[in-house]
Amino acid sequence: MKGKAEISDREREDWKLSAVGWKKWDHYLMQWLQPVGEKILDLVGLRDGDIVLDVATGSGEPGLSAATRVGGGRVIGLDISQEMVKIALNKARSQGIKNYEARVYSSSAFPFDADGFDAVVSRFGVMFLPDVLAGLREMARVLKPSRRACVAVWGPQNEGMKSVMGILTDELGIPESPPDAPDPFRCSETGKIGSLIRQAGFHNVEEVEVITLRTYSSVGQYWEYLLDMNAAVDEAFKKADEKNKKETKRMVDEALGSFAKNDGQVAFESVARVCCGVK
Ligand SMILES: C[S@@+](CC[C@H](N)C(=O)[O-])C[C@H]1O[C@@H](n2cnc3c(N)ncnc32)[C@H](O)[C@@H]1O
Repeated sequence: MKGKAEISDREREDWKLSAVGWKKWDHYLMQWLQPVGEKILDLVGLRDGDIVLDVATGSGEPGLSAATRVGGGRVIGLDISQEMVKIALNKARSQGIKNYEARVYSSSAFPFDADGFDAVVSRFGVMFLPDVLAGLREMARVLKPSRRACVAVWGPQNEGMKSVMGILTDELGIPESPPDAPDPFRCSETGKIGSLIRQAGFHNVEEVEVITLRTYSSVGQYWEYLLDMNAAVDEAFKKADEKNKKETKRMVDEALGSFAKNDGQVAFESVARVCCGVK
């Protein structure tokens, strides 16, 4: 089994490559994921003047939106990837948000003292931490007593995403993630995130489902998105021979058939779980 440092190095490298796609598709991603970020911020209970930590802030959300809600407060985003943080800082600048900052960190411990934050949030970040429980414990440590942390993970449904990823990994020979390795669906099992949050020391744990719709103008646009966003798929697809490429594309198109509309658009729902707890 890989050590935490090795997992973090691999994640940093993967997110460096994916950052190009996150920048290119920013508008699309932020629209698609916005309902999840809004739910996190509604449930975490922000007040004017709060100091908020956004773990795995990536290209800035939900930290940037939190910054607009806390008025005289401020938000610190933390991420493993310099390239993702750069996107977040550019967005803060272009949106005129002055009370958001983002930092890169390298170890699994957060670089903050205990009991310093009024709220801790994370959207689709905890599943990429080397040790999810240890990360949630860090969130509890840096949070003030009686305040809340709120995280979002992908739920057990998401057939569209899962069927396409299954075809790609099988057809292109992409190695499957070992159990409990960083993966978008690592915390998706029913009850898992709630149980981890309780084990990390939170109480009054509540969990809600958020459904968001993603729409692509065509199957071609979906392919472009997929290859831009997933470095492993892009690399494996480039290396595949023409026959393998054609067959993989045919199978993905077939899987997407049930999500295709008459006008050629492809639309499917994604299901997130937003889970909160009180310290
Ligand atoms: C799916 S993106 C989510 C970004 C953002 N929170 C959002 O919802 O738009 C996952 C993020 O987790 C970050 N990440 C991966 N491993 C991490 C770690 N060990 N610590 C902090 N961030 C990490 C990646 O760099 C990436 O920015």
